[in-house]
Amino acid sequence: MAEILIEGGRRLQGTVRVSGAKNAVLPILAASLLASRGVSAIEEVPSLLDVEHMIQTISAIGARVQREGTTLRVDATQLSSVEPPHDLVRRMRASFVVAGPLLARFGEAVVALPGGCNIGPRPVDLHMKGFEAMGARVTLENGCVHLQAPPGGLHGARIYLDIASVGATQNIMMAACLANGQTIIENAAKEPENVDLANYLNAMGARVRGAGTDTIRIDGVPELNGAVHSVIPDRIEAGTFLIAGAVLGEGVYVENAVSEHLTSLVAKLTEAGATLEDDVRGIRVWPIEQRRLRAIDVKTHYYPAYPTDLQAQMVAALTTATGTSMMTETVFENRFMHIAELQRMGAEIHIEGRTAVIEGVEALSGAQVTATDLRAGAALVIAGLMADGQTMVQGVHHIDRGYDDLVGKFQSLGAAIRRLES
Ligand code: UD1
Repeated sequence: MAEILIEGGRRLQGTVRVSGAKNAVLPILAASLLASRGVSAIEEVPSLLDVEHMIQTISAIGARVQREGTTLRVDATQLSSVEPPHDLVRRMRASFVVAGPLLARFGEAVVALPGGCNIGPRPVDLHMKGFEAMGARVTLENGCVHLQAPPGGLHGARIYLDIASVGATQNIMMAACLANGQTIIENAAKEPENVDLANYLNAMGARVRGAGTDTIRIDGVPELNGAVHSVIPDRIEAGTFLIAGAVLGEGVYVENAVSEHLTSLVAKLTEAGATLEDDVRGIRVWPIEQRRLRAIDVKTHYYPAYPTDLQAQMVAALTTATGTSMMTETVFENRFMHIAELQRMGAEIHIEGRTAVIEGVEALSGAQVTATDLRAGAALVIAGLMADGQTMVQGVHHIDRGYDDLVGKFQSLGAAIRRLES
């Protein structure tokens, strides 16, 4: 079991390069299953446990995947099964997006109900409603979703999503690429990762229009080919370093950070007293006066609002702000597990319903803490870097799910942080 040991209080300085986006590469790997001809080359693939899981999942049903540095070559022309191993799918919620491609290409799929981060109930009812609207028969047996297309294949449909779900938008968009006729998804998720997925699908020969807006139109085509695609930079990883740079930096440049994907974060950090400057290659964050942020109120919501995946990291940074901050989580229930750990480090936070009320303290103190999910883990690392003394973070496998060399990247900025394997 790995642990992360941090000597807090060091200032951060220098350049850090952001890797490809986890939340784009996962659906893109699933989408590669749609190609009945040709090989895909997916570039800028980060080295993450979640990516390994997705590679294992698609390999287990016959896709041939080869890694050359940060490029993955995927040959899905000869698949052997429409039922990926249940234990692999259960391990990661994002695996459920293999359902749409398999259903569309083979007319059937059997996919276990997913697991994932420990952040509240995360149903897939909207995915299933979408498949049903396209003519599929959807049944639930022994914890698995059985999907069966009508004779002649899926048909286009007009689908309104009650919630702008990221995963449901992806699953329906992928299924619609090979359906007969036009599918319209209304109240679609607008996240940049979904735009990246649509760009990859279009490079494969699909006809997807409107990704990044509320309404996506997909005209079905008979078949898709492999394609070359470079994954967008990870805005959550970029945001994690910008938050750390704001609260601890002596000038940190986050290379590859795309400012148009990070408008809400940049606005909130600026309101909290940070100075950020973007250019074509990335975003620089300058040191703040008095080395403490100002208290702010933040509410998470769907893109382009403040992302739930940067909630925990911002809470960590606000623990030492001057004044009282409020963080309201509207996307997921139960996503405040990091708060008990931050309290152990001296943070003064209490929870009122969906809001965390953060009374800024002068300083945090190092402690032994446990990451309960991916972003909670990143928050505890930031808190450890801010704290006086030593912090030991356990539950590091959560961090490995979604950060490519977080420890090495903080080391390159001058942090006293190391990973202990035992
Ligand atoms: C994706 C991201 C995750 C991020 C989240 C919200 C990936 C791999 N993961 O997760 O990092 O935190 O978006 O930005 O891209 N819901 C339903 N029924 C459904 C689907 C969702 O009720 O069928 C609810 C969920 O419980 C949740 C909300 O909708 O409360 C948002 O979920 P969704 O957008 O689907 O998130 P994911 O795609 O799982």
